[in-house]
Amino acid sequence: MKPTESMAANVATEMTEPFIQTENLTLEYGQKTAFANVNLGVNAGEILALVGPSGCGKTSFLSCLNRLTDMIPQCRVKGAIRIGTLEVLNAKINAIALRRKVGMIFQKPNPFPLSIWKNLELPLREHGIRKREQIDEIVETSLQDVGLWDEVKDRLHTSALALSGGQQQRLCIARALGLQPEVLLLDEPCSALDPISSGIVEDLITSLRQRYTLIVVTHNLAQAKRIADQVALFWVQEGVGQLIESGSVKQIFEYPQHPLTAAYVTGARG
Ligand SMILES: Nc1ncnc2c1ncn2[C@@H]1O[C@H](COP(=O)(O)OP(=O)(O)OP(=O)(O)O)[C@@H](O)[C@H]1O
Ligand SMILES: [Mg+2]
Repeated sequence: MKPTESMAANVATEMTEPFIQTENLTLEYGQKTAFANVNLGVNAGEILALVGPSGCGKTSFLSCLNRLTDMIPQCRVKGAIRIGTLEVLNAKINAIALRRKVGMIFQKPNPFPLSIWKNLELPLREHGIRKREQIDEIVETSLQDVGLWDEVKDRLHTSALALSGGQQQRLCIARALGLQPEVLLLDEPCSALDPISSGIVEDLITSLRQRYTLIVVTHNLAQAKRIADQVALFWVQEGVGQLIESGSVKQIFEYPQHPLTAAYVTGARG
């Protein structure tokens, strides 16, 4: 093979390899298998929407990716997860460092009961960033990134709990962004918000595409269609969550391969 051909082949391989890849990922809570044998890839810089009926394992799946599952007694994760070059389930990796790389946002905004400033400063300090100028800069940039800076710059030292639900959710996203993650996992990030705040957070999520790789769990199919590059559908079959189908938004919504996907996207099931 000529050098140029081999280089082209390498580039093609790099471009097609997903940034996040799970292999036969299975999660058990004691005797209960939440989901089994999930093989799912997410490309760098894309948004994957994870959808499916309640109890099919969406939150459990996200929790594996930054090893929050380590904190649940009786929880066992089998299979493999690769994020970039990192083997996530390798016992030797530093879970704290992993969670810096792979941030998580929950359905209910969960700011610390502290000032807006402290909410952003605390995780930075925990990760060894202590210089005041550096913290100042990250606080401002993160708040700019989520469109909150102008709204809160004059009240940085007042309680984060006085912010509206939508502002609190954006603050939580800013808190994750301050740590310069590569991946953001968002578990129904808009579902506890009023429609206007939900729209603002949705636009924010879309604006993060390309800079980060995102997985967004949502029950809102219209939202999945608007924000996602790829969609994955989970479903409980014989008591166990399964990945039924994944593909581009067009495939899932217009040309579903599996009857359950067709039923789900038309609202006939789920
Ligand atoms: N800590 C736990 N211990 C035992 N079982 C659990 C635990 N967390 C979740 N489960 C079970 O695992 C299955 C998957 O739950 P999970 O919360 O991941 O579903 P989900 O798709 O996120 O649902 P929802 O859409 O309602 O948020 C469910 O049957 C749930 O009851
Ligand atoms: Mg859930």
